[in-house]
Amino acid sequence: MENGTSKFFNLKEFPHIVRALDRNLKIQDNVLNVIGNTPLVKLSKIPKEEGIQCEMYAKCEYLNPGGSVKDRIAYRMVLDAEQRGILIPGKSVIIEPTSGNTGIGLALASAVKGYRCIIVLPEKMSDEKVNTLKALGAEIIRTPTEAASDSPDSNISVAKRLSKEIPNAVLLDQYNNPCNPLAHYDGTAEEILWSLDDNVDMVVIGAGTCGTVSGIGHKIKERCPKCVVVGVDPHGSILAEPEELNKSDVQMYEVEGIGYDFLPRSLDRKVIDKWVKTEDGTSLQMARRLIKEEGLLCGGSSGAVMWAAVQVAKNLKAGQKCVVLLPDNIRNYMTKFISDQWMETRNFKPYPTNDKLWWWNKVIAENEDLIQATASVSQNSSISEAIAALRESKAPVVNIVDDKGSLIGIFTADNARRRLANLAGSVVEDLEKFTVKKIYQIDVSNDSTLAAVSRMLDITPYVVVVKTDASSNIQKPIGVITSDDLLTYITNKSNQLNGN
Ligand SMILES: Cc1ncc(COP(=O)(O)O)c(C=O)c1O
Repeated sequence: MENGTSKFFNLKEFPHIVRALDRNLKIQDNVLNVIGNTPLVKLSKIPKEEGIQCEMYAKCEYLNPGGSVKDRIAYRMVLDAEQRGILIPGKSVIIEPTSGNTGIGLALASAVKGYRCIIVLPEKMSDEKVNTLKALGAEIIRTPTEAASDSPDSNISVAKRLSKEIPNAVLLDQYNNPCNPLAHYDGTAEEILWSLDDNVDMVVIGAGTCGTVSGIGHKIKERCPKCVVVGVDPHGSILAEPEELNKSDVQMYEVEGIGYDFLPRSLDRKVIDKWVKTEDGTSLQMARRLIKEEGLLCGGSSGAVMWAAVQVAKNLKAGQKCVVLLPDNIRNYMTKFISDQWMETRNFKPYPTNDKLWWWNKVIAENEDLIQATASVSQNSSISEAIAALRESKAPVVNIVDDKGSLIGIFTADNARRRLANLAGSVVEDLEKFTVKKIYQIDVSNDSTLAAVSRMLDITPYVVVVKTDASSNIQKPIGVITSDDLLTYITNKSNQLNGN
């Protein structure tokens, strides 16, 4: 019987679109074989909107199986250490300090090859990276973001210490391992040159360990000497040259994976012709544009690299070719710059307007009754004192202040419990280790609105309210606002407005 279904599936009769199949790649032994050979994709909308004359191409490193360019060096370091008998399957333990992506690459190789893998990474790095690492079976150790690289608390120092303590531990050490630049010299650079028939005028590359930019730079200088190699380094880091470029007040930046406070051995400044310094707002806005306008599901450092490329590619002419390397993918940042609220609360995006809500644009005053009073303890207090203050005040946070009463962080039961659960050994009586320093806060001296509070409450359980003293510039804590406080305030005021 001729019915709708059989007609629908008369597939032979449709016009067909069959792409050329790569006959050499029928079956892969394992996923590690798929690392590299990433596509080079022409950019269209952004170059046009930015008035760029040259052709721009994105090297889509975020399409590697672990989600980043670092899969290449992780696999290369493992293969090299195996060949030299340093890594022994079933026996060795891989341990590495990383900003996450090298860790994911190593955890991927460890999962396939059967190594125990321990990754030491700063707290700044996203939970998405941590969860990916855990899913791959890696063990995670977090270290304070603010710890300088040479301090005993940094991820590099902790990994070095553990590699001496744990039997059969092997630290592959991406900062000092020639396989890092070599993976790009042999792999990434060859691919770029092959795709463009050895004719490229500029490559723009983010700098972390600098293995990518140094490895690609070396090969490019040999095969295409006219090409300008551009390194991208965030303000707050010291990798760029000349040194004056690195002068900055920036203490912490949000973009992950690029920038350091020391010069890694895997950096060769000789092969980098020009450096561009970047900042968070424009980098992350550009990453959102790469996703929205070009369909490239990349991460934050890709935005930094693209922003830098737009500045330098303005000097190139029609017909010249500029390659922009996109290091990692959107998955790492789903709760960070991909979240509108996250962007808004850092002033990287305006708060949405909403004319229908009477309270949306209301400016919060210092004495507003929606602000819950909070207690404060000195930074020299003990954990027990902070817990006692928390219980007594009944507010969800206790302020931690310095000698001048300036807010330096908060203490919360949730965070303290999480830290305790992750601590190996006995309870530490050091309040510093339990202080939350990254706080969602509003300043009543800045005409902050309820819109800001409401958007923040989408991504945090409490908004800390502060006031900046105009003469001393000291930020003093005033209280806290929770969803409960905001709801009660809105309903009470709405009832009053309606005459109930
Ligand atoms: C997201 C991201 N971008 C850029 C880089 C920089 O790469 P490289 O370490 O080769 O300089 C890294 C390195 O970890 C990274 O994770």
